[in-house]
Amino acid sequence: MRSLRVMLIVAAVAGLLCAGQAVLASNCTLTYANFGQAFLGKYCNTCHASTLSGGQRRGAPAGLDFDTPELAAKHAVGIMTRTAVKKNMPPAWAAPQPTDDERTKVQTWVSCEYPR
Ligand code: HEC
Repeated sequence: MRSLRVMLIVAAVAGLLCAGQAVLASNCTLTYANFGQAFLGKYCNTCHASTLSGGQRRGAPAGLDFDTPELAAKHAVGIMTRTAVKKNMPPAWAAPQPTDDERTKVQTWVSCEYPR
């Protein structure tokens, strides 16, 4: 009897945890369309755009571009790592620089829209 009660409590807690995760997932409101596109356009695509070549890229590796939804998806992990984890993109010498809040939003957006 006692063990049955314990099992019921365990099941109830597990249920609550799952419900909590569902709420978190549905809180994923940041998307490429409403956030990523504008962020990349302002802070990244001045160097990382498929329309730029040679010196216009200011050292950004050829072919590493983020100016379409497909390219953003393809490079999402690199975008997140350099923007929000290492915080070394844009390069320190470049302006404008995103705020800490914007860097955190990049991490939220990427992990929501392109879960691994
Ligand atoms: C002023 C030009 C410039 C801007 C703006 C810029 N980058 Fe870069 N990016 C570079 C240069 C130069 C390199 C190569 C040197 C390096 O890896 O640090 C690079 C490299 C990278 C790499 C790594 C490539 C590799 O092979 O490892 C990533 C990922 C990246 N940038 C993402 C971004 C993101 C995301 C943004 C916007 C938040 C951004 N960059 C803004 C110039 C720029």
